[in-house]
Amino acid sequence: MSKTVPIYDPAKTFDENFDNGPYGYFADKNVYENKGEPKNTFLGLPIYEPFGIAAGPLPTSKHTTGAFRKGFDVVCYKTQRTTIAPCNAFPNVIPVDVEGSVTLEKASKGLTLRDEFNEDPRELTITNSFGNPSRGPEFWVDDVKKALEGQGKGQLLIVSVCGTIAEGQTQDEYFEDFAKAAKLAADVGVEVIELNLSCPNVANEGIICYTPAAVKSIVDKTRAVVGGKKIILKFGYFKPEQDEVLQEIMEYINEKVDAISLINTIPAAVRTKDGKQALPGEGRLVSGLCGAGIKWAGIDMVKRLDSLRKERGYTFEIIGVGGVMTPEDYKEYRKAGADCVQSATGAMWNPNLAVEIKASL
Ligand SMILES: Cc1cc2nc3c(=O)[nH]c(=O)nc-3n(C[C@H](O)[C@H](O)[C@H](O)COP(=O)(O)O)c2cc1C
Repeated sequence: MSKTVPIYDPAKTFDENFDNGPYGYFADKNVYENKGEPKNTFLGLPIYEPFGIAAGPLPTSKHTTGAFRKGFDVVCYKTQRTTIAPCNAFPNVIPVDVEGSVTLEKASKGLTLRDEFNEDPRELTITNSFGNPSRGPEFWVDDVKKALEGQGKGQLLIVSVCGTIAEGQTQDEYFEDFAKAAKLAADVGVEVIELNLSCPNVANEGIICYTPAAVKSIVDKTRAVVGGKKIILKFGYFKPEQDEVLQEIMEYINEKVDAISLINTIPAAVRTKDGKQALPGEGRLVSGLCGAGIKWAGIDMVKRLDSLRKERGYTFEIIGVGGVMTPEDYKEYRKAGADCVQSATGAMWNPNLAVEIKASL
């Protein structure tokens, strides 16, 4: 039996994927046609099905257009910066050995590299480590314009951005850089911008979403320059003991942002069977786990934020992400309170997932 070729092929470098992808099913030109009028809304916009691909597997307009053509209706362009940044050393996506869920306890002990990617999506847990590479606005601003042209009726392109730490810069300037990146996207006509506040693979930048002062400052600076555009914040998993921090953040940002996307990956050390660091290079012992094993964490966060918004009358929408590998996972997230659902790992290995979800409804 031939193996599935993921749309983003982990056997190839980031640059090969960027320049020559997407691969597999996304490479063919057949288009899935949405029928009738869009019956759903997300962020007040008409959407056929509030399901799509999270920031990551789609680094160019060729990839995002491929996703729209295959029926993914809410598609995110991979995180971009205001400057050129290299990708972490190859490999960037490797399989890990996990049975069932990656509990926080399992993650804290670290995990072991698997020999091969699991063919059964319900068992597929991977780790990814790119470091938010960017070819800089000189490339992506024009490419995002092309990506916008790939949107069909009832479909939505989101562009993910982050700030970049530079030598001699103040903390405020770093936060300001998120806003600058967002404004670049807004100025070319992007209506919905996602701020990536949760990348675990950039050692010096850290995971910002757990620091209320940083989140508040980035949100204020971004709102000041993007006007009425929609802002999404991408968060990681908040442990139950971090609930107060989460509540403080939500109280402040409720009226300033339009949606929260959760979760990003769960950070964990990954080693080879003989105990060596699995991914090459400094600061790469820990990387972000994603796929089937983290679904519990995404569902848990969606439920917690949904209860909070009901309790306090908050108006933001929720994008559920993490371990969506099958139509049942999509339904589980919707039931948990997600207004929209996205997949990264599941969509990479099953690019027919949107079509399968639509057929199952
Ligand atoms: C190949 C790959 C690249 C990713 N790159 C990004 C990124 O650039 N920005 C971001 O916010 N999240 C990134 N992520 C995280 C995903 O958006 C998502 O939050 C996470 O993988 C959990 O979803 P999943 O279980 O469906 O993979 C990436 C994930 C994968 C698999």
